[in-house]
Amino acid sequence: MLKDAAVLIEDGRIRAVAPYAKLRDAHAGAVAEEVRGVLFPGFVDCHTHAVFGAPRLEDHERRALGEDYRTIAERGGGILQSVRDARARAEEELVKLTRARVATLLAHGATTIEVKSGYGLDPATELKLLRVIRATAASEPAALVPTFLGAHEVPPEFRTRRADYVRLLCDDLIPTVAREHLAVACDVFCEPGVFDVAEARAILGAARAHGLGLKLHADEFAGSGGAELAAELGALSADHLAAISDAGIRALAASDTVAVLLPATMVFLGSRRQAPARRLVEAGAAVALATDFNPGSSPTASLPLVMVLGVSQLGLRHAEVLTGVTVNAAAALGLAADRGQLAPGFRADLVSCDVSDWREVAYWMGANLVTAVWTGGSACPLWPAPISLEPHVQA
Ligand code: NIG
Ligand code: FE
Repeated sequence: MLKDAAVLIEDGRIRAVAPYAKLRDAHAGAVAEEVRGVLFPGFVDCHTHAVFGAPRLEDHERRALGEDYRTIAERGGGILQSVRDARARAEEELVKLTRARVATLLAHGATTIEVKSGYGLDPATELKLLRVIRATAASEPAALVPTFLGAHEVPPEFRTRRADYVRLLCDDLIPTVAREHLAVACDVFCEPGVFDVAEARAILGAARAHGLGLKLHADEFAGSGGAELAAELGALSADHLAAISDAGIRALAASDTVAVLLPATMVFLGSRRQAPARRLVEAGAAVALATDFNPGSSPTASLPLVMVLGVSQLGLRHAEVLTGVTVNAAAALGLAADRGQLAPGFRADLVSCDVSDWREVAYWMGANLVTAVWTGGSACPLWPAPISLEPHVQA
């Protein structure tokens, strides 16, 4: 924590961080902007499913009344409801919705945001969702990192021939996505009943052969060896991990794969379980935190809320959650050398919060304390606080 410090920015990069008086004397021509509160590196949200249509309010209520995931899905809810919605919705509508949602994530301090496809599950719609991410990136100041998640669920039309869907992903979609530079990474929902370890291995193998980074939804509800697979393949991250095994913890600790924890998801699902964050840290794993922003299990766009939960639900220290949404989250996207730190050479992504002690950002639960955001050295216009996450677009 530096007091009376200044950040010198040049061509979108941080050139120096030093006492204000010193920089003022050495760079009299620089335009000075005063910051109220505490200045942080821009937060990195390394796991979102921000491209979707409608919220899933029925799921939320049914779950509250005790219905389980399977029953909710059988009654037309769950991921496949968002899939039907995304397939039916025009690309321009999805762009409009995604822009509003990305602007909300930015207004909560996220300057780099990973965004997954995964509500298409057919070639046309998956490519449409990735184009939506690209169009949003071109028109919003946040930096977006697109991830292909065609393996989010087995689509209904492949229920009885799932091997054919895995082949379609490996032989057709992944090559297309890579060739058209529509994503920089590939993710798989590896979970009993969704994709098993062998299928995830095949899909990520194809992704790697086409130059994509690897990520994995691993051991969310039942441990199935997902964390071990992610470590073995040298994935950028293994995400969720509420049901990770001891062997999985050891595997991540011994690897460069980042453990991405999503505490808001477990809270929203009404689960009392959380990933063993403390044990991961003590074992030596790099732990990052993310919103998992999505309509089914985590409709929050607030990384600061996730930071509070990181302390209160995961047992992390304030410094660990701040690391988890900056340095380690950047590493989960393969960007650790480029962003997530206020240091010379790093991208000038900054966020200021109206607090006097930096730990307050992971303390005032549910408040948005962000007062200003800069990406690549430019101040971002912040949309008015309660911006519409659902700007009245009809399906
Ligand atoms: O990360 N776990 C899988 N996918 C999402 C949930 C998506 C949904 O329910 O729409 C998640 O929690
Ligand atoms: Fe997710």
